[in-house]
Amino acid sequence: MTLKSASRKGESESKEAQSDVDICAKILATMEKLSHIKDVHALLDAVLLEARQMTRADAGSIYLIENNVLNFSYIHNDTLFGASGVNRYLYASQTLAVDNHSLAGYVALTGEPLIIEDAYQLPAGMPFTFNDTFDQRSGYRTQSILAAPLVTSNNKMVGVMEIINPLNKDGQPSAFTPDDLLLLNYFADNAAAAIERAMMTREIILRMIKMCELRDPKETGVHANRVGAYAAEVYHQWSLQQGIADDDIKRRKDLLRIAAMLHDLGKVAISDLILKKPAKLDSEEFRTMQYHTILGARLFQNQESDLDVLSAEIALNHHEKWDGTGYPGKIDDIYQDQLPLGAGKQGEEIPIAGRIVALADVYDALVNQRVYKSPWSEKTTLSYIKDQSGKHFDPEVVDAFLAIYDVIAAIREKYQEEGSSSLPAASH
Ligand SMILES: [Fe+2]
Ligand SMILES: [Fe+2]
Repeated sequence: MTLKSASRKGESESKEAQSDVDICAKILATMEKLSHIKDVHALLDAVLLEARQMTRADAGSIYLIENNVLNFSYIHNDTLFGASGVNRYLYASQTLAVDNHSLAGYVALTGEPLIIEDAYQLPAGMPFTFNDTFDQRSGYRTQSILAAPLVTSNNKMVGVMEIINPLNKDGQPSAFTPDDLLLLNYFADNAAAAIERAMMTREIILRMIKMCELRDPKETGVHANRVGAYAAEVYHQWSLQQGIADDDIKRRKDLLRIAAMLHDLGKVAISDLILKKPAKLDSEEFRTMQYHTILGARLFQNQESDLDVLSAEIALNHHEKWDGTGYPGKIDDIYQDQLPLGAGKQGEEIPIAGRIVALADVYDALVNQRVYKSPWSEKTTLSYIKDQSGKHFDPEVVDAFLAIYDVIAAIREKYQEEGSSSLPAASH
């Protein structure tokens, strides 16, 4: 080796080392960012975005392991949905067994990452087949797939991430490289810990809601999941209509889903005699019931985080009405004893999160069975909501809700006690 070529080799090695350092620094910075995200959905969105940016992938999806099956949990597809819109495929319902029959199942079973060059021409000897239902229904053409297991440092498998169709300089699908595989695998290991943390947060929230359900049978986990998801997606659409920047939307949406789930937590402090009364409440009982808003807000008294502040705001305001006829109304200090209820807040005096959860909560109560009523039909519910635009509800919130009604319907279908979904996930 000549001196010149040795120094060139040294140069290229140090360049490689430098780029490895850059990649590590980038992954560390990304992990820092992920550690601030609280909600599972928001976290999966950020994880997929980073993974796709690292590998130039056009699309991707994540399955999480819950109750020993792989649950379809998140999807990106720039070609089909674009980068910033609200889409119904996020709420597709699909579960896969952890076995050899699907690509994701195989990766979860073996714990090994996998590169597939062409999904329609699987290498000989692969035990699974490619499920093309999503491509068939959406018109998308899945070509190259890179699948990585999401395994924590304690060796716990939390799910599988698949990224699809890396794009070349001309924007055409190309193939993943072994470097992509190394990079994604390293990132997936780090992301798994963040995902496990967010799943634990969600579990704790659902347990708090279960406590509430013991008092009020209407406040179930699925009701909370639906109200959280409706509120998050309506907020997303409303923000796009307002021209709010993408980063701000994502940050706020992360907190809003969790805070909206906790809207009725104050009911734990209301008597069973009122909550479980099988008949209409009399005026005194109704007055007592109205205090669940204030009692709920008080639960977040310390207000140590943005999530506490937003949760208190939603608990306090989700029964206010746009035309000023709601409750508990304007109150100077929610911590004083012998609190009288104030005159209803009106219009934009009600924080936007309260205006959105008001619609999400009422919609969910109308279309579902309650002890005191049978479910309303879709048609009756929608005409009621339109009629209440400008009365009970903020007209701009109603517009956002109606603009994404296909997403609302997908959420309803995903979070139900029983039954199956017809919406195809990107199942591979
Ligand atoms: Fe309520
Ligand atoms: Fe509720």
